[in-house]
Amino acid sequence: MRNDAQQRSETKTKTKPTPGRSSTQANAARRTTKPRLKPDSINAAAPDDTAKPRRVGTKMSRLLDLNVVSVKASAPAKGNTTKPRPSGANNSSHTDWLLYCRPGFEQDCAQEAVGQARAQRPVLAEQPEITTDSGYAIVTINEQTLSYNELIFARQLIRLHHTIDDLPERDRLTPILAAINTLPGTFGALWLEVPDTNDGKTLSAFTRRFQPLLETALREQGRLTDDIPNEKLPRLHLFFPDKSSALIGTSDPYNSAASIMGIVRQSMPAEAPSRSTLKLAEAIEVFLDKSEQTRLLRTGMTAVDLGAAPGGWTWQMVKRGIRVTAVDNGPMKGVMAKNPMVEHLMQDGFKFSPRKAVDWLICDMVEKPSKVAELIGNWFAAGWCKHAIFNLKLPMKQRVNALDAALGGIRTRLNMEGINYKMTAKQLYHDREEVTVFLTRTKSR
Ligand SMILES: C[S@@+](CC[C@H](N)C(=O)[O-])C[C@H]1O[C@@H](n2cnc3c(N)ncnc32)[C@H](O)[C@@H]1O
Repeated sequence: MRNDAQQRSETKTKTKPTPGRSSTQANAARRTTKPRLKPDSINAAAPDDTAKPRRVGTKMSRLLDLNVVSVKASAPAKGNTTKPRPSGANNSSHTDWLLYCRPGFEQDCAQEAVGQARAQRPVLAEQPEITTDSGYAIVTINEQTLSYNELIFARQLIRLHHTIDDLPERDRLTPILAAINTLPGTFGALWLEVPDTNDGKTLSAFTRRFQPLLETALREQGRLTDDIPNEKLPRLHLFFPDKSSALIGTSDPYNSAASIMGIVRQSMPAEAPSRSTLKLAEAIEVFLDKSEQTRLLRTGMTAVDLGAAPGGWTWQMVKRGIRVTAVDNGPMKGVMAKNPMVEHLMQDGFKFSPRKAVDWLICDMVEKPSKVAELIGNWFAAGWCKHAIFNLKLPMKQRVNALDAALGGIRTRLNMEGINYKMTAKQLYHDREEVTVFLTRTKSR
């Protein structure tokens, strides 16, 4: 028999993707001081509106069929919504989190975040609606904490404080400053962000114009400072899903991505034989800090690249002075076709075993995640490599579950073998229907 919470979670439908307001916080928002700049001089108009993102009919709460507590759904704001709506559903003990992700992965991103919260405590049955292809998701949880490093689909993790709908075109600054004024403390950075979508691209012209205006106002008020090291203060985020709404939140520099929009861009090296090279370049940047990059990727090291052709990943290793055994039935191309640092073997990557252990295994073969995971487990169990970066190609459906199973399989295998390791996975900016994983042996757990 289903309990009340389950029944509620299946029948209620929200029409707004943002949570409601609490009257105390709303009053606080109204009590704000006036901004010092004149609205007319500070207004930066956005380009003409583009089509609104489509909302998904399926509620996130349908996914939360276990371990739920019931919470009354917060009503969407009515009438003039220029005033900020504080976040936290209708209960101040709730927290809304704004997560950026690759467009098309909103459901996976929210499902994963709610799953992480649920592993700590029961989660709320009611969750904000997901907007498909929007490039972001909002989740509402209790006092659980989310860990950015352990989220695979989230490009950024932001604690959401206010949502402003219906921003006036002629003066966006006044309501935004009013909302910011209700937040305590000083900020180390101000990031104006848009979704990673075509609509988002058109909005970025507006954010570029708006940034200096808001920044000047916040510096004058002493809310934004360079006096304290950046990582010691929260960052202030203004996310514009469209030209008339703003989501205002903060991120903890120790629990978030250090790049604007959570995107680590790479420029395409002219010499590299494939664009795939950008994935490995980004993985190295994201998973290894500068000292690890120097220590773990050194001239004289060795690597095996499974599924190497045409050679973009191999190129990244060779560029760092690392000798590569490139395994692929397909041809290596361009500068990787005949390079003294590369030995190309036309073999099946799943049957290949190295003559000698290598420092690195890199693997970009297009195969089921469970099959690649098993292969990686075998390599570490056999002691054939110390570090690995590999791609897991995701199926169209049940991506979070397929990923959990694959990574869980590796963990079980390494634990069984008594191997100490560190494993981190992320859907990188250059990843498409896939995620990239870094796995390394460690001395102690
Ligand atoms: C996405 S491409 C790799 C691109 C490569 N990382 C680069 O940067 O140029 C996948 C490659 O995996 C290879 N592949 C797939 N299954 C394989 C197998 N069982 N053994 C060896 N190579 C395989 C394909 O031939 C293909 O070249």
